[in-house]
Amino acid sequence: MAKINDNYLKLKAGYLFPEIGRRVRAFAEANPSAKVIRLGIGDVTRPLAPAVLKAFHAAVDDLATTDKFAGYGPEQGYDWLINAIIEKSYKPLGVSLKTEEMFISDGSKCDCANILDIFALDNVVAIGDPVYPVYNDTNVMIGRTGEADDKGYYKNIVYMPCNEANGFIPALPTRKVDIIYLCFPNNPTGVVAGKAELKKWVDYANANDAVIFFDAAYETFITDPAIPHSIYEIEGAKKCAIEFRSFSKTAGFTGVRCGLVVVPEEVTGTTSTGERYSFNKLWLRRTTTKFNGASYPVQRAAAAVYSDEGWTQTREIIDYYMENARIIREGLKEAGCTVYGGVNAPYIWLKTPGGMTSWDFFDKLLNECNVVGTPGSGFGPSGEGFFRLSAFGHRENVIEAVERIKKNLK
Ligand code: MLT
Repeated sequence: MAKINDNYLKLKAGYLFPEIGRRVRAFAEANPSAKVIRLGIGDVTRPLAPAVLKAFHAAVDDLATTDKFAGYGPEQGYDWLINAIIEKSYKPLGVSLKTEEMFISDGSKCDCANILDIFALDNVVAIGDPVYPVYNDTNVMIGRTGEADDKGYYKNIVYMPCNEANGFIPALPTRKVDIIYLCFPNNPTGVVAGKAELKKWVDYANANDAVIFFDAAYETFITDPAIPHSIYEIEGAKKCAIEFRSFSKTAGFTGVRCGLVVVPEEVTGTTSTGERYSFNKLWLRRTTTKFNGASYPVQRAAAAVYSDEGWTQTREIIDYYMENARIIREGLKEAGCTVYGGVNAPYIWLKTPGGMTSWDFFDKLLNECNVVGTPGSGFGPSGEGFFRLSAFGHRENVIEAVERIKKNLK
């Protein structure tokens, strides 16, 4: 008899975004004439930068020739892409990395989930609350947790509340933990952490022999020059941190799929018999066994992001989204809302007016303004009473959505 992985039964509801999609589809079916504006899931809407598209096309054409045809590539990614990222994206931050320390993948969501393969189940994990749901749910799926309590907190996970009182930056855990998830610029709150803030975490991790999973998927949206783009800008981080980055939001690859993980050689853990072992070696072993690399044309397209032309065009797209963020942020403030984020991140985190629950506000916006956002409580219990709007929409839709919300709330 085939038995199922019972851990999946511990998961509370459907994954957040499909659940929102389901509700929006039901609304649209019942109200076919409503023009629904979607500012829920952080999905990009601008076309790929022309230089990126050109490289993508050229790589597809390579596949039509015998001399440039590409079959299986290196599982961990082509050197020409890895080295371009190291040179153009890390070196300017003062961070030097070896080619062997970076792994190209088909996206950061998978990486954040798959990394758990190389860590023992009895590690104690700390995650923010609210948080990108993937961190929580993948720990449930792999069997690290017990059941959830009434609030939705799973046994064996240390939750770090992020709220108005702490500026949505979690305090260091009061009990010893082994793995810490940090995401800055943060999804969903849009807040960023400065160097001093991150240093506290790096010091904690090094003092407690813990590993930080640093999700930097939104680093290109940082506008304040004082804010670090990489955890490795912090002294000591190469000993304790694994960093995740994504081309999804940076370069409009949500449908194209490309991400990367940095696993410095110095990051180690202990075996069950107490010897030190490098996580880089384990991740390489996992990658070469379970993955055959991101596709060749995708990696060519990703490398073109770092060409002079590609980067200028990509930056223009990022600026477009950040102007959307400004429009949403300013508009909501004019409507009397308390708002966070939206300055160094493409997400605006607002306090629901009049103390409404997140899902009540979701229904209100959907029914009365035909605007879709994401209920804060979907990111964790501490997100209750908050709501996230994404800045990745078309400009005219963003303007219209803000006007509708302003009219409704005033
Ligand atoms: C989000 O809206 O939080 C993201 O688009 C989800 C993701 O990146 O997987």
